[in-house]
Amino acid sequence: MTDGNATLHFADDSSIELERIEATAGQPAIDIRRLRADSGHVTFDPGFANTANATSSLTYINGAAGELRHRGYSIEDLALNCSFLEVAYLLMYGKLPNRAELDEWEHSISTHTLLNEEMRSFFDAFPRRAHPMGVLASATNAISTFYDVYRRPTRKREIDAGARTLIAKLPTVAAWAYKKSIGEPYVYPSNDLDYVENFLHMMFARPVEDWTVDPAVVKALNVLLILHADHGQNCSTATVRAVGSSRASMFASVAAGMCALWGPLHGGANQSVIEMLQEIHDDPDATIESTLARAKDKDDDFRLMGFGHRVYSNYDPRARVLSSYAEDVLDRMETTDPLLEIARELEAAALADDYFVDRKIYPNVDFYSGIIFRALGFPSRMFTVLFAIGRLPGWIANWMEMNSDPDTRIMRPRQIYIGETARDFVPIENR
Ligand code: ACO
Repeated sequence: MTDGNATLHFADDSSIELERIEATAGQPAIDIRRLRADSGHVTFDPGFANTANATSSLTYINGAAGELRHRGYSIEDLALNCSFLEVAYLLMYGKLPNRAELDEWEHSISTHTLLNEEMRSFFDAFPRRAHPMGVLASATNAISTFYDVYRRPTRKREIDAGARTLIAKLPTVAAWAYKKSIGEPYVYPSNDLDYVENFLHMMFARPVEDWTVDPAVVKALNVLLILHADHGQNCSTATVRAVGSSRASMFASVAAGMCALWGPLHGGANQSVIEMLQEIHDDPDATIESTLARAKDKDDDFRLMGFGHRVYSNYDPRARVLSSYAEDVLDRMETTDPLLEIARELEAAALADDYFVDRKIYPNVDFYSGIIFRALGFPSRMFTVLFAIGRLPGWIANWMEMNSDPDTRIMRPRQIYIGETARDFVPIENR
């Protein structure tokens, strides 16, 4: 590296200079945009573990120190002091809203929560046991078919309206997917309730009894949604950008991001964590020791769910908040959960085990979130849906940032071809 640049030397003694791109915080980058044209080489980086796909002003993560900031504000400050919609505004528009801006933003969200009535038949068409993530991703795409203007929005006003529509309607979609799965009537949104209250109302109210909201549940869910709001170029966000780079609509891009989130190595891990803890609880053969042994066995594809992270080599700050919060929420709900005890024991055993210590594998956001979601009354099949509602502002903010970035190009990685070289065609009768 010389004078802020890097020099790449090849075996034939040729070399090329690569420029550095500075970051305001964290790792700088080596700009390889001219590498292929100047050297005839491409880079090999499975999973893009060393590759920055974009410059971004949204979220900063210091994985070694376990720090997470959105637009400069620490996740701890935001989780403690903000509403989820405030954080959504911050991510999308770059500043914390003042009182008038927040009032206007909340009003505009709460007055767009209704789904087109024709969407009812859409929910009816799914099988009763449909996983709500499948319904959520499909419905997100389906909503866009009612608003042609959002298909290829170009004006800022249309993009803002599309974002508001998505944020406003996603809780309704999520709650209806749940109601469908339990065979209860859909509950319509209420403009009088705030964002989180309204979602809880559509989830848990039933026509046969009065329903009142517990402020402790609202507060806890608000914190959980904030903790999931954005997280750099994770698998689902990178998917949103990949799909959006073809100039696909925000709705189509976000729906694709939801499908990526669903996988158990990403957002689907929160459901898998509870299933793993439940198995340790229920099955006498599945102990903490046997679970860790399986996770360490390279011949077994089982992984310790809720542990490990591409970016953190330290405790995930979101998991730190949730770990202490879990106890708090259970106390406030005046309930206990044997799975919390098991989770604590499993964490302590993993953090004392050389395999996990050497690889710097710590609990991630999904390890404790499920225990809190459970305490709030959500079934495990809804956990990844809750993650998606929380992550929506991050996906939208990334889509907006990508859409206005002059450096954006259609996502189209190269490959290193390792197949057959040219072969003579063989007619079918000679094969
Ligand atoms: N259990 C057992 N071993 C693990 C785990 C785990 N949870 N996580 C990582 N490792 C091991 C790997 O086997 C590998 O070992 P090796 O060096 O001997 O081959 C090493 O640690 C590095 O792991 P990678 O898979 O290379 O790390 P990567 O960055 O590709 O994967 C991931 C990160 C997918 C999150 C991984 O840690 C994992 O599978 N975790 C479990 C699933 C999970 O909790 N996902 C949620 C992540 S947070 C989120 O997406 C919201």
